[in-house]
Amino acid sequence: MSHHLPLFEQGRHLLSVSQFDRDNLARLFALADAVAPIAARRGVCSVLDGAMLGSLFFEPSTRTRLSFESAFLRLGGEVTTTTGFTFSSMAKGESIADTARVVSGYSDVLVVRHPDEGSVAEFAAHSVVPVINAGDGAGEHPSQALLDVYTLEKELVARGKTVDGCHIAILGDLRFGRTVHSLIKLLSLHQGVRFSLFAPAGLELPASVEAYARKRGHLVDVHDDVVAAVRGADAIYATRVQRERLTEELTGSATVGDLLNRSMLAQAGNLEAIIMHPLPRDSRPDAYDLAGDVDDLPGLAIFHQTDNGLTVRMAIFLTALGVSIEAVHLTTKQRPWRATLRD
Ligand code: ASP
Ligand code: CP
Repeated sequence: MSHHLPLFEQGRHLLSVSQFDRDNLARLFALADAVAPIAARRGVCSVLDGAMLGSLFFEPSTRTRLSFESAFLRLGGEVTTTTGFTFSSMAKGESIADTARVVSGYSDVLVVRHPDEGSVAEFAAHSVVPVINAGDGAGEHPSQALLDVYTLEKELVARGKTVDGCHIAILGDLRFGRTVHSLIKLLSLHQGVRFSLFAPAGLELPASVEAYARKRGHLVDVHDDVVAAVRGADAIYATRVQRERLTEELTGSATVGDLLNRSMLAQAGNLEAIIMHPLPRDSRPDAYDLAGDVDDLPGLAIFHQTDNGLTVRMAIFLTALGVSIEAVHLTTKQRPWRATLRD
């Protein structure tokens, strides 16, 4: 269904990364670059004065909800929010269709996360304002993939490389990890990407996503050893076992120990690689995720990703609401106060 979606521009929902081509992707990234000073609080912007964001998260979230809401607030808009089913009337049996119609009457744009694949598209079908998919079950997480590719591009360029022709290792729960699905599709817009995949048994990438990349001429190597998967990769993207989506029969697939740690990278001779993760990283013992002992390696980019999430999400709102960068500049003033330790 997603390949029938129109390109993402003013007045459009953002449901899938399939709504991007190289042109609108480059425009979105240029907009993100332009608003970075506002994200960093070097200027205060009021371009969205009077606009209302409806933020609806029916699944846990830290960075997606807070960065979308911060992005809207930093552009001068206002935010209403509801989290979890318990505190919405969905707990009383209200349908997605009715909920969407009601809350879209209160807002200028909606950001929605929901545990069922396809549910955000259903929400969008009944909304009278643009809906941004903040994660629909094991389906997609387009804003995450946009900030991932934005970050990857900057990290690669700093090393004299480009996304075209890069080698990326993608590790972890590739089956239920929606960020991985969106990321592989968005990277497939580029030229000659080499994907090295590693997943625990039972959590392999859906065949349709693998076929999507292959069909567009990319190389996909599937490994059964994590060290082999990361050897020679420019970038490594690790992701958490999505325990909340595992059936009982699959819970054993999440093996013990680390998915990736410093000694595995040393074994692969790749301590310099760019290290990415959508987060959250599961830091409980034996959670089978990216270990904390990689955190002082030079390529660690996980917090560049989270910081870039704010700017990319500002660019998403400006695009959906049809705001030009000129309008942003006209409504941005110097702040009279001192902001953070970064000043
Ligand atoms: N936060 C990301 C998501 O919501 C990744 C994860 O939860 O592992 O998809
Ligand atoms: N990366 C991401 O979506 O994080 P949250 O689940 O905390 O929003």
